[in-house]
Amino acid sequence: MKFFIDTANLAQIKEAQEMGILDGVTTNPSLMAKEGISGKDNVLKHYVDICNISDGDVSAEVIATDFDGMVREGEELAELHERIVVKLPMTKEGVKAAKYFSERGIKTNVTLVFSAGQALLAAKAGATYVSPFIGRLDDISTDGLQLIEDIRLIYDNYGYETEILAASVRHPMHIINCAKIGADVITGPLSAIAGLLKHPLTDLGLAQFLADHAKANQ
Ligand code: G3P
Repeated sequence: MKFFIDTANLAQIKEAQEMGILDGVTTNPSLMAKEGISGKDNVLKHYVDICNISDGDVSAEVIATDFDGMVREGEELAELHERIVVKLPMTKEGVKAAKYFSERGIKTNVTLVFSAGQALLAAKAGATYVSPFIGRLDDISTDGLQLIEDIRLIYDNYGYETEILAASVRHPMHIINCAKIGADVITGPLSAIAGLLKHPLTDLGLAQFLADHAKANQ
């Protein structure tokens, strides 16, 4: 399973990259705004900065909501760096744009997916990634992980190659359960990824090993 970090914060991307477990980065307009990145030139530069400190695919989201605007913006984003993935919203225009880019060999990530039907459309359009938002479904008392299971079943039934990128991941158990179900990728905050490291028995065991070693080597 691939690990993407869901942030536009360069320090956090660098930290995850240095752990050696990072496969890519996802961003969205809210995450860019959270880092105080505004104005077209600054936004484009920030995507290049992200590409320069990470190794894998970097999703950059279009702001346009019409097909022509999405194509224009997406082509500009894709020109920035070979690892940029054009992120498109799950709308009729977004599906059309995903088809347009897939026919031209440009990677896409169809985002804001909340149902199996939407995921089926993204796969039919040839999207590289589909992003079901599991945390936001959980927020409204709907089982986000069940959606991942449904999409996995549907994609496997027909051999769709679109990768299931579980998004809106909030905590370590989301990641573990996505791995059990067979999500291809998870994207979440550094805290959710780093949370996988923690176990009190690891800490206790290490403290004991070091204490025994120190005693034996006094
Ligand atoms: O990748 C989608 C993500 O940014 C949404 O996460 O936590 O805002 O629902 P969240």
